[in-house]
Amino acid sequence: MRRMRRSEALRALVRETDLSASHLIQPAFVVAGEGVREEVSSMPGVERFSISELVAEATEIATAGIGAILLFGIPASKDESGSGAYDDEGVVQMAVRALKEAHPDLTVITDVCLCEYTSHGHCGFVRDGEVDNDLTIELLAKTAISHAEAGADAVAPSDMMDGRVGTIRHQLDEEGHAGVPIVAYSAKYASAFYGPFREAAESTPELGDRRGYQLDPANAAEAVREAQLDLEEGADMLMVKPALPYLDVVRRVKQETGAPLAVYHVSGEYSMLKAAAANGWIDEPAAVLETLTAIRRAGADAIVTYYAKEAAGWLQAESGSITV
Ligand code: PBG
Repeated sequence: MRRMRRSEALRALVRETDLSASHLIQPAFVVAGEGVREEVSSMPGVERFSISELVAEATEIATAGIGAILLFGIPASKDESGSGAYDDEGVVQMAVRALKEAHPDLTVITDVCLCEYTSHGHCGFVRDGEVDNDLTIELLAKTAISHAEAGADAVAPSDMMDGRVGTIRHQLDEEGHAGVPIVAYSAKYASAFYGPFREAAESTPELGDRRGYQLDPANAAEAVREAQLDLEEGADMLMVKPALPYLDVVRRVKQETGAPLAVYHVSGEYSMLKAAAANGWIDEPAAVLETLTAIRRAGADAIVTYYAKEAAGWLQAESGSITV
């Protein structure tokens, strides 16, 4: 077996998995205000941007050849029904307009969820102590439409309500947005690895947790059922989240559906690598590129990762080839 490993050229000839910037999606947090650029303390290297700063950042993202940007909004104020999410003058809607004007060729995907916009931090409308499924999906559809009207290239519902993909698809079609794809967070686990994101998005639930709607980490067959239901409802791309602790789920969903698949390398996964690197315990570029390659090898087409921009730089430095 060692003969084909003797030089980088030979290894490159038989390499089964490729990783390039075009496979990566950069998440970005957009906040209200002017001239804001603030570090997220639990995610070194990640900043929250107001709109003009985001547009400047997008120039670098586009230049790095990254496949898409995924937008999360943090509104100036929150309320019970998360009305900032479906406000035509909301922070994400305005950011999408500004981004599409400045960078028409950069693909902009929007996160569709209420948790960043609700005062209680849950992903939907709370009634009698529980997130009301059917009321929530109407609000999510309104959110998706307002993102599409602003010019979003794709919408990504991350709420885990039942039936939301079908409702969003139907209403997008009715409102003249039949061409806008849905990237469905199909298998989103109730994970402890979202902690740093919740600091960045100020979306920690005030009461209780998300186990009433997100998947139980012990289940994999259920993830496949979620994926199949989303496809039946009209999803164009599926998502599994988090990444490394769920690579078996990534493989199963890919094999059993054959559908385009995104995998979300989440905030906690990012922060662990950053912390180890900051302590000098791992070689950061090598560990990150190995991680991203593993996610692709398991079956991901696209990877959402806070490392997108940095990884694109490392890949370019290696001229697109990986030496592990
Ligand atoms: C919810 C949402 C979450 C993430 C993306 N969308 C957090 C949650 O469910 O609490 C987490 C992403 C990450 O940890 O990087 N809209």
